[in-house]
Amino acid sequence: MNNTENVIEIKNLKKSYDHGNIKALNGIDLTVKKGEFISIMGPSGAGKSTLLNMIGALDTADEGIIKVAGIDLMKTKKLNQFRSQEIGFVFQMHNLIPNLSVIENVEIPMYETNANSSEMRERALELLKSVNLEKKIEQKPTKLSGGERQRVAIARALVNHPSIILADEPTGSLDSKTGEVILNLLKELHTQENVTLVMVTHEPYVGNMAERLVTVLDGKCKTDEKLR
Ligand SMILES: Nc1ncnc2c1ncn2[C@@H]1O[C@H](COP(=O)(O)OP(=O)(O)OP(=O)(O)O)[C@@H](O)[C@H]1O
Ligand SMILES: [Mg+2]
Repeated sequence: MNNTENVIEIKNLKKSYDHGNIKALNGIDLTVKKGEFISIMGPSGAGKSTLLNMIGALDTADEGIIKVAGIDLMKTKKLNQFRSQEIGFVFQMHNLIPNLSVIENVEIPMYETNANSSEMRERALELLKSVNLEKKIEQKPTKLSGGERQRVAIARALVNHPSIILADEPTGSLDSKTGEVILNLLKELHTQENVTLVMVTHEPYVGNMAERLVTVLDGKCKTDEKLR
């Protein structure tokens, strides 16, 4: 794949809940180029998280076209493989497993690969060092601060070298200083490793860090603004 290819192609994507009563996505059109950094903003309930869930194949759409990393998500039967190979999730609820240590949490996505246990340990350690958590690898997530947990989630998101990182309000629960650390970390990954970054945020200054800002309103992409 070269740099100008679209890594995400979405056309007229629809998703409703509650037997069609709640139209969470009402005809989304969105393309994202490989290596791009976009932010998604819009009011609460607009459909932002639903859209991220569709891109990461955590849920399936009702109709429309959604192709991610060359895979047709409406058709493929290999959703687990797609998720573990292509996507890194940084969601606010972290989903860290409380009774596993930090390093074990980071290793989880590698169980879907052919890596052996020493390769897994080595890769997890390398990433935990890069987010400055090497001193906490044996700790349980419940003993960590919010920012530290978020950094574990980022390390875990990167462990399988994903082509796309989906971040849902990655700084939402953090103080501004810790939020800045997390944002810089994500931005660095985007610039140094050419990872495609799709980030949902409520904060305009965070949204403005992206190369492009997409506004979602009532389940549709309303504006699509080039920032740099
Ligand atoms: N699993 C679900 N079952 C029923 N309704 C849902 C479900 N998930 C989302 N919705 C509804 O779909 C709509 C879009 O929700 P979504 O979570 O995508 O909004 P959002 O833009 O992420 O909002 P927020 O900024 O508050 O996180 C909302 O009306 C929400 O109540
Ligand atoms: Mg949301």
